Amino acid sequence: MSLKIAILGAGPSGLAQLRSFVSAQLAAHEEMPEIVCFEKQSDLGGMWNYTWRTGLDKHGEPVHGSMYRYLWSNGPKECLEFADYSFDEHFGRAIPSYPPREVLKNYVMGRIERKDVRQYIRFETAVRWVSFDEHTQRFSVTVMDHQTDQLHSEEFDFVVVATGHFSTPNVPYFPGVERFPGRVLHAHDFRDALEFKDKDLLLVGSSYSAEDIGTQCHKYGAKSVTFSYRSRPLGYDWPAGITEVPLLERLDGNVAHFSDGSSKAVDAIILCTGYQHSFPFLPDDLRLQTRNRLYPQSLYKGILWESNPRLIYLGMQDQYFTFNMFDAQAWYARDVMLGRIPLPDAATMQADMQDWLSREEALANASAEIDFQAAYVRDLLQPTDYPEFAVEAQGELFKRWKQDKKVDIMGYRNQCYTSTVTGTAAPELPAPWLEILDDSLEHFLSHDYAGVVGEPLEQV
Ligand SMILES: Cc1cc2nc3c(=O)[nH]c(=O)nc-3n(C[C@H](O)[C@H](O)[C@H](O)COP(=O)(O)OP(=O)(O)OC[C@H]3O[C@@H](n4cnc5c(N)ncnc54)[C@H](O)[C@@H]3O)c2cc1C
Ligand SMILES: NC(=O)c1ccc[n+]([C@@H]2O[C@H](COP(=O)([O-])OP(=O)(O)OC[C@H]3O[C@@H](n4cnc5c(N)ncnc54)[C@H](OP(=O)(O)O)[C@@H]3O)[C@@H](O)[C@H]2O)c1
Repeated sequence: MSLKIAILGAGPSGLAQLRSFVSAQLAAHEEMPEIVCFEKQSDLGGMWNYTWRTGLDKHGEPVHGSMYRYLWSNGPKECLEFADYSFDEHFGRAIPSYPPREVLKNYVMGRIERKDVRQYIRFETAVRWVSFDEHTQRFSVTVMDHQTDQLHSEEFDFVVVATGHFSTPNVPYFPGVERFPGRVLHAHDFRDALEFKDKDLLLVGSSYSAEDIGTQCHKYGAKSVTFSYRSRPLGYDWPAGITEVPLLERLDGNVAHFSDGSSKAVDAIILCTGYQHSFPFLPDDLRLQTRNRLYPQSLYKGILWESNPRLIYLGMQDQYFTFNMFDAQAWYARDVMLGRIPLPDAATMQADMQDWLSREEALANASAEIDFQAAYVRDLLQPTDYPEFAVEAQGELFKRWKQDKKVDIMGYRNQCYTSTVTGTAAPELPAPWLEILDDSLEHFLSHDYAGVVGEPLEQV
């Protein structure tokens, strides 16, 4: 009997898992397992699938999307390029290093559409519950099919959880917030910076969402942006109109009071306070519980559920590397499911996890974190047939990216990088990022970019 595999979610991680199975090598040599991918949205793409909706979707399911209009990649595209499908191959020419959301989505989907993976996906089907039968060693997956309005269950040998972890907001309480007279929202529900034109904005949090939403609101005409941090400020050299203060303590009407005694009247508050790993469809003994970190506990190789490696989690770590790391995880997971990679005994798996966890806990700065994640990706790739790519060289690009941001937080997206996959040097944007207000795919691709197509780089 052939293997039956459930993939939960058709975002970049779930699609990587599908792609790994339909890859030419597998089709040529082995029997294709029976695969069903359950996706609650009506299309694939996961987080990259922009939605205007907030709250609940048309079926009453929590809206997954946290992305917003005018979102551009916050890292160079050269750091997330697929080893088996380059940007040059997809677009047929060189494009700048920082594309807007629609362009990146087009790239990710392009690789998938060429392999016709849609046939494996059941859209508008929300996973409601997963259980494991010790006796049969199989999972039962219960889903709500909104197209037929029916709840039903199916059995599987493996379950791959690829439902993302930047969708369920972490929403702290601040005294007085219930009487604040303006809009209070979490970054998950932020959609359009123009709503905040000419407004004084307070953003709580000091990570990527705060940085990106704050700079975007500045770009689209907010009167002022105040960042409030808990642990440490973002610390960039901000232009006039953007300031950083310590943690919000309370609100008195529209006046925000901070822990250093300062205060400011604001029109709206955006809580950029991160996300929770949320799996309401999993029982406690199968449910990953972790904060947003580079090496979540209880996952061997960062993907296999320690006490039952038939349950696999993809993309659950905090991310420098994204698309190509999901590929590395998916290829490794595929080979475990197919029995190509034998698993060691429990004590060896435990020791391996403990080693990675100890290394993660000792990381002192972003540069060390990047090296750590590059080493993790390399470790996964080594036993698989995923095409070789210069992981460490991409890590060096991430370090340059960090430095570029330090030099000019409002202008780092004007920088150009060289692809480690093709050697192509990215052309410049047609104007500084701060001046480009139209982020559509059509507008971005309407320019004649003078890129230099090259050869793959040597490993560093
Ligand atoms: C605001 C924002 C900006 C980002 N920008 C970048 C960027 O510029 N570059 C970058 O590389 N990364 C970026 N990321 C990271 C992004 O999360 C990853 O690129 C990628 O989308 C993760 O893929 P994933 O498949 O693991 O999860 P997701 O993309 O979140 O996909 C998960 C899928 O699971 C589905 N799902 C969830 N629950 C269920 C259920 N119960 N039943 C059925 N289906 C379900 C969802 O509908 C979704 O389609 C950003 C993230 C956020 C929040
Ligand atoms: N354009 C883009 O590409 C783009 C834009 C936005 C987001 N993203 C992606 O989205 C992902 C999530 O980023 P994120 O910034 O939302 O989450 P995050 O990186 O997990 O950061 C969460 C932030 O919330 C703060 N926080 C948590 N609880 C708090 C509390 N009670 N009070 C005050 N502050 C609190 C944290 O502060 P501490 O440091 O004190 O813990 C931290 O600054 C990242 O992968 C990022 O790359 C990308």
